[in-house]
Amino acid sequence: MTVVNARGTAPSYLTEGRADFPAGFVWGAATASYQIEGAAAADGRGPSIWDTFSHTPGKVAGGDTGDVACDHYHRYAGDVRLMGELGLHAYRFSVAWPRIQATGSGPANPAGLAFYDRLTDELLAAGITPYATLYHWDLPQALQDAGGWAERDTAFRFAEYAELVHARLGDRVRNWITLNEPWVAAFLGYASGVHAPGVQDPAASFRAAHHLLLGHGLATRALRAAGAQEITLVINSSPVVTPAQVHDPSAPVAEADAEAVRRVDALLTRQFLDPALRGHYPAEVLEIVRRHGGTAHIRDGDLETIHQPIDLVGINYYNPCVVEAGPGEPADPAWPGTEDVRFSPAEAPVTAMGWPIVPTGLSRLLLRLAADYPEVGLLVTENGAAFDDVVSDDGRVRDTDRIAYLDGHLRAVHAALEGGADLRGYIVWSLLDNFEWAEGYRRRFGIVHVDFSTQRRTPKDSALWYRDVIQRNGVR
Ligand code: NOJ
Repeated sequence: MTVVNARGTAPSYLTEGRADFPAGFVWGAATASYQIEGAAAADGRGPSIWDTFSHTPGKVAGGDTGDVACDHYHRYAGDVRLMGELGLHAYRFSVAWPRIQATGSGPANPAGLAFYDRLTDELLAAGITPYATLYHWDLPQALQDAGGWAERDTAFRFAEYAELVHARLGDRVRNWITLNEPWVAAFLGYASGVHAPGVQDPAASFRAAHHLLLGHGLATRALRAAGAQEITLVINSSPVVTPAQVHDPSAPVAEADAEAVRRVDALLTRQFLDPALRGHYPAEVLEIVRRHGGTAHIRDGDLETIHQPIDLVGINYYNPCVVEAGPGEPADPAWPGTEDVRFSPAEAPVTAMGWPIVPTGLSRLLLRLAADYPEVGLLVTENGAAFDDVVSDDGRVRDTDRIAYLDGHLRAVHAALEGGADLRGYIVWSLLDNFEWAEGYRRRFGIVHVDFSTQRRTPKDSALWYRDVIQRNGVR
């Protein structure tokens, strides 16, 4: 099928009524190690940058930490049972690097590997396909003490760790994700500092982005050599649009605004996909890097290493990115090189995160990526919403707003499929309410409610709705 709905011409409204998905479409749910596991010191796990960060006063809302989280480390069997009841085809989880190597290098910790071994077996016994993410932000603190992702050596340590995990699980896990959201890891971690390790140094953030990519390339090479069957790079991406284009993709754009759009899109999406899929950086990014510490860290041969064949790009989509010629007041430190750009939220109803709800942004994004990167398949690896859910006296969580959110976004996914995007599946964020990074436990993204004082799990109405979607392979 050819992509008929290329960039700028995606529908500005989505159909109602029945939408059937293709046979074999993968339906899943996702989590990440630090957000759900707890058991922070169990069985030889070393500290990660998120342990350090969350235990630093003032960094996380409410002083919350991942020490206990959903206690999934001890409750994984019950959680997998729940996944089975919902009929999930796939479960995307992440491996905590400091469980495998407490200090980020050296031999594997057998007890750490054994946990993911048990989890994998439990999933397979329930008929659920494991999708293992190797890096979802919990860098061993010892590596951060040596400079973290701003240092080149971390990329090589990451590839060694990836090999250790694959050596243990590779006979049963066929779907591997190298990195989750390298933009967030690099720019919230090392530029704005609102995420661990809390560094505020634009030059370090570009070095971190490059070393994350280098780690992706080295790990991909190692995984492939070891026989991994499907390798995915997951990015957070959004359509970058002007305010007028949010609801009208064909609205005219002034040249200064178009330039702002191109630059922000280069930083957000092409900074990662062009090196990984094409072997070069976008010119706009190189120009900014030159003004922020220079490009000496990009060594000869690095781009060949980063440019390894991969099977899928995973897309985490939450909302569009709205920009125009600025200046931003104040400039957002997460976006070095955009001081003359004004970012604003899209005009739309918002979730409890304050994130505008624009489902058409997802179809637009998927069709654009399908058109610009036809060499790779796509998978929605995250999409979902936080709302202030409450358990009613009758034990139900009536999260009709989340159902509406998911319904709208699934229709957007359907529109992208109709438009010809090679899209393999949809993985909702998240299976469980969990530790939402700097927001702590106050933001609930789960389709399953977690009472953090009792660890009781309650499938929300959205979970039961999602179960029906999976069963029918469609929305109606
Ligand atoms: C992206 C991240 O991968 C995930 O960890 C986070 O909880 C969700 N988005 C929601 O912010």
